[in-house]
Amino acid sequence: MDLQLTVPCAVVSTQPVRPILKHIGDSRQSVVCDVSGGVPTIMYWGAALNAASLANLDAIATATARPNMPGVTDAINAITLVPCHGDGATMRPGIGGHRPGGRHWAPRFSFVSCEVVGQQLISIARDDVAQLELETKLECSAWGTLHAAATLRNVGESRYLLTNLSITLPVVESATQLLTFSGRWAREAQLHRRDFVDRAWTAENRTGRTSHEHLPLIFATERAADEWNGQVWGAHLAWSGNSVLLAEVLPDGRKYVQLGELLHAGELCLEPGESYATPEVIGVWSGNGLNSATQALHRNVRLRSHHPTVLQPRKVMLNTWEAVYFDHDLSRLCALADAASNVGVERFVLDDGWFGSRRNDKSGLGDWFVSPDVYPDGLAPLISHVQKLGMDFGIWVEPEMVNPDSELFRAHPEWVLAATGYEPVLARNQLVLNLAHPDAYAHIYRQLDALLAENDIAYVKWDMNRAHVHATGSDGAAGTHNQTRAVYQLIDQLRAAHPNVEIESCASGGGRIDHEILRRTERVWTSDCNDALERQIIQRGTSMLVPLEVMGAHIGPPTAHTTGRRQSLSFRGATAMFGHMGVEWNLLTLRDDQQMQLRHIIGLYKQHRELLHSGDFVRYDVTSDNSAVAHGVISTDKRKALMSYAQLSTAQGLVPSLWKIHGLLSDIEYTVTYVPLGDSREHASFTMTGAQLGRIGIQPPMLFPESAVLIHLESQ
Ligand code: GLA
Repeated sequence: MDLQLTVPCAVVSTQPVRPILKHIGDSRQSVVCDVSGGVPTIMYWGAALNAASLANLDAIATATARPNMPGVTDAINAITLVPCHGDGATMRPGIGGHRPGGRHWAPRFSFVSCEVVGQQLISIARDDVAQLELETKLECSAWGTLHAAATLRNVGESRYLLTNLSITLPVVESATQLLTFSGRWAREAQLHRRDFVDRAWTAENRTGRTSHEHLPLIFATERAADEWNGQVWGAHLAWSGNSVLLAEVLPDGRKYVQLGELLHAGELCLEPGESYATPEVIGVWSGNGLNSATQALHRNVRLRSHHPTVLQPRKVMLNTWEAVYFDHDLSRLCALADAASNVGVERFVLDDGWFGSRRNDKSGLGDWFVSPDVYPDGLAPLISHVQKLGMDFGIWVEPEMVNPDSELFRAHPEWVLAATGYEPVLARNQLVLNLAHPDAYAHIYRQLDALLAENDIAYVKWDMNRAHVHATGSDGAAGTHNQTRAVYQLIDQLRAAHPNVEIESCASGGGRIDHEILRRTERVWTSDCNDALERQIIQRGTSMLVPLEVMGAHIGPPTAHTTGRRQSLSFRGATAMFGHMGVEWNLLTLRDDQQMQLRHIIGLYKQHRELLHSGDFVRYDVTSDNSAVAHGVISTDKRKALMSYAQLSTAQGLVPSLWKIHGLLSDIEYTVTYVPLGDSREHASFTMTGAQLGRIGIQPPMLFPESAVLIHLESQ
């Protein structure tokens, strides 16, 4: 064994390099970084600093310099955007990898350059020993988000196997609470609040999609912070593949969160000259609680999507899944379309079952041609029927998948994302198609392109119904990273060819909800669970990441298919109102009174959708026992609002507590009107000032569990 050091190695100096502080930010937020080490360290992230503070930036470094500590290394290793073990950091490093033989496994970077252009700070650092170059970018957007990303370049002459490149954000020590999200199929975005005072919390997602289990979103908050008060720091990994989240309190008291792509062993190999860019981490800071932080995330979706349709009114859709499942029959579907248009539906989405041999979930995936057995004349008769009714037509696809029982698999078994020599693990009778395989990609693109070219399709529901297991590319290495990129490319290419087609991101419900997929899709399917009770919670959690207009929310049948609960139409309607409304119910079974009520609820949605989809979404904490939830949308000029108060279960108190409706203009008088949901309940309207509404509140009515009321507020 060669024990000799072949490369001279500098000792990490115990004398810190003189800090170089840079500021980015605007009236919404300030970020101050020390860039002297080459990889920026955030020294401050919070409320905008005034001119005098900015003129005296260096004081921050002097005043906050940490003492050397006993019992640890001499160097005080900063929590940089990419902390390096080679610098002495004993936390989880932000970078991991090695060259053949395990060399250069712990890089240490030095300053090369740093520039601030507008609100963007770009730093370049280099490790001349490991021959790696690291570029980090931090940017404050005009809408109040902070964007961080890093790119590693292999400037050496051998391959570099990258095992991890994540973004690390330091968290102030006064943030003593952590908010994280867990879930499962049909129960997504469940919020958890826990102490953040010692040890670490981590979540690993290796499902090959954003996942139901671990929404890549994390908030650290001050103890007393709530929806309206207190400092909150949030971070979202904008990525639709595997991920790792970590929040840790170091033994010296410092805290950080770290977010990055989870890479399997050998998954990412950088050949000389190649580079790897992390997914973007989208940060939010707020001094007024979670509502304001999550509104910044909403603006990020609203303002960054370049697709024109996102600004169009979100059409009420009928989705055929829970109405007919695989039982496709042209005359029944035409009758369903008649019934849909009769209640005010504007878009008819034909779900799974229209293609190849897809008569159940055992076969047909991969064969994206209209089934001649079910649609002997193609889709044209159905589409023209739908269009004559004034609706547009949407269709379901699952392009990343293949059933072993399909023409595609029989012709190309080698196109699956699976490891040669092993029996692949099936899920829902299907396998993942390797879209990083150029021929597989080209084949699927051709089929989808033809589908969209040959049929007048306005909308695509893009599904992804199984997790990656042993996902292996054609070269034998783990393939989830390449697959995730290929999916983005496929959507982008289809969008470019069919720019007017809207796309919904679905993955067995809410398995693919993130800001990167939303750069190329207009809607997410929030959950396969249409039970309004569950939906109140799922949508509340999801609203912490995305705005209402992209959050699919359907009125399901009276008995929910995923839970067996029975709920009133007014409760189902009030719940679906706060999203992109749809209907997923066999409308051929409706009584006249149900039809009338549904028409009325859809009418309300159309009346209020402009407000719902452009205003600021706010959540209220109305009970301490979670027996009721309230939320609403306030117009950006704060003169109008639509709110919901929903009773979920029986409460400790017989009468609900007063509901303090914050967020309105103190001096303005608002007329508060209960919005009739088509049931018999009636309530008097009244007028109150914004200050009265916020400080005194209103008495919510006594409601049965699983019922809701809507109120409309309008300034005089
Ligand atoms: C997934 C989706 C459903 C439906 C089915 C069809 O489960 O989430 O909405 O489209 O697939 O197979």
